[in-house]
Amino acid sequence: MSSKTIYEQISPILRPNSVAVIGASRSPEKIGHQVLRNLIEAGFPKDKIYPVNPKADQILGLKCYPSVKDIPDEVDLAVIVVPAKIVPLVLRDCVEKGVKGVAVISSGFKEVGRVKEEQELVEIARKGGFRLLGPNIVGICDTVKKVNASFCQALPLAGEIAFITQSGALGIALVGWTTLRRIGLSDLVSIGNKADIDECDLMLFFADDPYTKVITLYLEGTSNGAKFIDTLRKVVRKKPVLILKAGRAERTTKAIQSHTGSLAGSDLAYDVALKQTGAIRVPTVVELFDWATALAKLPLPKGDNASIITNGGGAGVMATDACEKYDVKLMDVPPDLAEKLRRFMPPFGSVLNPVDLTGMATEEDYKGALETVLRDDRVHSVIILYCHTAVTSPIKLAEAIISAVKESPVKKPVVVSMIGGEECDQASDILTSNGVPSYPTPEQAVASLGAVYKYARYLKKVGGGEVKLEVDRKRAEEIIRRAVAEGRSILTSSEAAEVASAYGIPVPRKPIAKSAEEAAKLAEEIGYPVVLEVESPDILHKTEVGGIKVGLKNAEEVKNAFNEIMNNIKRNAPEARVWGVIVRKLIKQGKETIIGMHRDPIFGPMIMFGSGGIYVEIYKDVAFRIAPLTLEDAKEMVEETKVYKILSGFRGPRLRH
Ligand code: COA
Repeated sequence: MSSKTIYEQISPILRPNSVAVIGASRSPEKIGHQVLRNLIEAGFPKDKIYPVNPKADQILGLKCYPSVKDIPDEVDLAVIVVPAKIVPLVLRDCVEKGVKGVAVISSGFKEVGRVKEEQELVEIARKGGFRLLGPNIVGICDTVKKVNASFCQALPLAGEIAFITQSGALGIALVGWTTLRRIGLSDLVSIGNKADIDECDLMLFFADDPYTKVITLYLEGTSNGAKFIDTLRKVVRKKPVLILKAGRAERTTKAIQSHTGSLAGSDLAYDVALKQTGAIRVPTVVELFDWATALAKLPLPKGDNASIITNGGGAGVMATDACEKYDVKLMDVPPDLAEKLRRFMPPFGSVLNPVDLTGMATEEDYKGALETVLRDDRVHSVIILYCHTAVTSPIKLAEAIISAVKESPVKKPVVVSMIGGEECDQASDILTSNGVPSYPTPEQAVASLGAVYKYARYLKKVGGGEVKLEVDRKRAEEIIRRAVAEGRSILTSSEAAEVASAYGIPVPRKPIAKSAEEAAKLAEEIGYPVVLEVESPDILHKTEVGGIKVGLKNAEEVKNAFNEIMNNIKRNAPEARVWGVIVRKLIKQGKETIIGMHRDPIFGPMIMFGSGGIYVEIYKDVAFRIAPLTLEDAKEMVEETKVYKILSGFRGPRLRH
């Protein structure tokens, strides 16, 4: 199996040519019966469906086999719907039969504490050289080969969005929900306990699947942060990935933790992981499918300039607000383009962006304006807004938009918002099914275009690679080891400086003087003014014990300061071990920043950068990235903070007194 790609390993499960249902029940109310009926009703070839049940000869008109081993044909996928206790038994039969993949619907494993029993299933599958989906899943809905091997009420509509769900019930519910909204899916797969196949394997499958354009995921948590990040980095380069990650609230994290029995990574870590890998986090199911639809249907924009065409000022204003929120950049309409657009509006129309054709706009006006901006190289994407008026029929307008988009030789993303009643809904359907995603509100249309921009911008910047630093790791390790051996959890100031310089970070030299004379000699070498600071593994807050003297301008001041510090320590911290006094150059005061590290239980070390100083806790001006960072990650992390603006010389408005 190892020589096969993930795509080849999972194909028999998600794109099977023959399916056995082990536990196909004679009773219509049982899940085993429903799975069989679903397979037949979804249109999978009947002669390639094999019910398995030792107590029955025939179910739903199909010949029944006592064991999977008795099936005369090859079996690509075996769906198991027998009670947990007999799952290992029938799984061993699958190994003997040489089935190519297995999905276990049965519950009663890790989720109820039967971890060993679940591990046994994986071991049997390994012996058989096949992959296992589940256990504890709703099943598989594959609209490509019309496989409804699930107890969902029906197959979803066919489409190009793959949906992977960690919640079976949500999966079932979304079949109806997406159908009502005419959203098509290539697959709906529930991952259940993820004993073998997990969300990463499935994302890798869909990345290579020719029927899937966008991958969507409902996720409560992942168990292997490094694998998750590595997978996303690979997959997002091929296809957009949208993730609805539940568990923002602390209470939810606790619920997930007790639900999955595994450690939950912090929500912040997930947020950072998705940002860093180019996966797009969505807030709700609505955005998940709104944005997925846009990403599945639209070409990527070649540049930033977006143009709004509307027949209502209010809709235009709402869309403009949304553009700012979702980072869609509205262009200033150049005079020559404005001149051309004037032809499609009355004199009181507006050629500024939003281009307002006014309430008098007909479908011809919309079509003319749209063709004009599609022809213009300076416009890269278009948002069309329509408020239902008596002047224009929404259906006719939809047709006009579709023909303008289809006839345009240059492919640009166009999104629409049809604001109105039933006719607008119908027009929206026509638009979306013809490759022009249409939404009920301007904000939804803009947000969806924003997701397309987000993905396009990510693709443009990927490939930063990891940073290769000249590092004296041995030296840094020596210092840290020594501190650990002494039972210390913090480094002294000079040790920390040495570690920093081992990593190529410029820090002032921090030589240690053992006597007042030595301190003065070092100060002469370094150059005045200098700072003296006590070096002790036992003193963390040096100012409080009189361990620091700043702004020393000559040898005399240095000698006095040395003696004063020693006396202060004797008086204020008599127990402290004193290794000497650091002499260092007084650096002109700059802006304080902080770099930190936090270890997430799932994602490991996370690096923090932000504003430092005494107000660090109040401002919370910090950004995180998961290690290892690419150069791009580091740059973005710094740019995300407010202190970045200060560091790069921001001059805000001056206060007058
Ligand atoms: N091979 C094939 N079929 C077998 C069998 C074997 N070795 N041994 C028994 N069967 C048959 C049974 O005879 C029965 O058919 P029948 O009704 O015609 O007699 C059928 O398999 C099902 O077995 P049964 O014991 O009736 O189980 P069940 O239908 O009550 O429950 C599950 C089985 C898998 C549905 C149940 O254990 C379960 O796990 N339910 C939860 C599923 C779920 O919610 N999944 C997660 C969603 S998120």
